[in-house]
Amino acid sequence: MQIRRLSYALGAEISGVDIRNPLDDKTFKEIHAAFLKYSVLLFRGTPLTREQHIAFSRMFGEIRKLPEVQHKHNDPKYPELLLLTNQFNARSPGYTANEIWHTDKSSTLVPPMASLLRCVEIPHVGGDTMFTNCYLAYETLTDAMKRMLDGLHGIHVGGGNVIDDSSPERLAESMRANQAAQPIVRVHPETGRKALFFGEKVRQLEAFTTEESKPLIDFLCQHATRAQFVYRHVWQEDDLLIWDNRCTMHIAVNDYDNSKTRRMERVTIKGTPCGHAYDGPLDYAVPGSELKARFAKQRAAS
Ligand code: OGA
Ligand code: MN
Repeated sequence: MQIRRLSYALGAEISGVDIRNPLDDKTFKEIHAAFLKYSVLLFRGTPLTREQHIAFSRMFGEIRKLPEVQHKHNDPKYPELLLLTNQFNARSPGYTANEIWHTDKSSTLVPPMASLLRCVEIPHVGGDTMFTNCYLAYETLTDAMKRMLDGLHGIHVGGGNVIDDSSPERLAESMRANQAAQPIVRVHPETGRKALFFGEKVRQLEAFTTEESKPLIDFLCQHATRAQFVYRHVWQEDDLLIWDNRCTMHIAVNDYDNSKTRRMERVTIKGTPCGHAYDGPLDYAVPGSELKARFAKQRAAS
């Protein structure tokens, strides 16, 4: 097994292991140690069936199944698989939610530990994904800022694709389930290191007004995504990337010709409980919704 670092901040490519077949304990332990050390791992040039993608993912932990409202737009045979495509259709009504810096499902009270994204089809140029190291983002703050952030919570609001508007009750319930207060400084449950747990899903800081929150939110997002903390992944078909949602953020770069197809498939691994429920006002726009509306308009016009 070879490990090649992808950037100074984070990421490593693993080669010399065939992830299509069950791995022995020793090999998996090495992969898992690399996952904790580099936070993002790349396996390149391995065509995986959906079953193989799911089987490999399962080695990292229990798989988070899609909620009903999402599952019906995906492959009914595989509740484990989130199908992502830029082709605007019922299957991916909310994919533009990925075009902000985020960590997956941080708007829920059991945010996933990891995601495994497989590239099925990618336009000739563009459509990269960027990742940032949130340990470094935390560690490079001043002690004064670290003290100030200690104990604060951000209100994370999920993308609109899990909103169930089939009845007023379900709408209210799915809106509530789509937001959570998360500690801004999170202790990684496995490495014990502190990381910023943040992103552009954060609409407000708990117990702060919107005006008070905004400068700090803007600063933290800008700081956490400085170029020297970031790895930018240029996809090839049959790449599989796994990232640690507890200490990284990522963003989909929508810079490509949207008449070309970009298709990805994701398996998500369950994490440990984090944060608490937030029942505050629901009067903000769901992140990505404006972009989604603009994109729909552009599609209709072209
Ligand atoms: C995701 C995600 C980014 C991309 O699958 O969680 O944010 O570039 N994807 O597709
Ligand atoms: Mn994501």
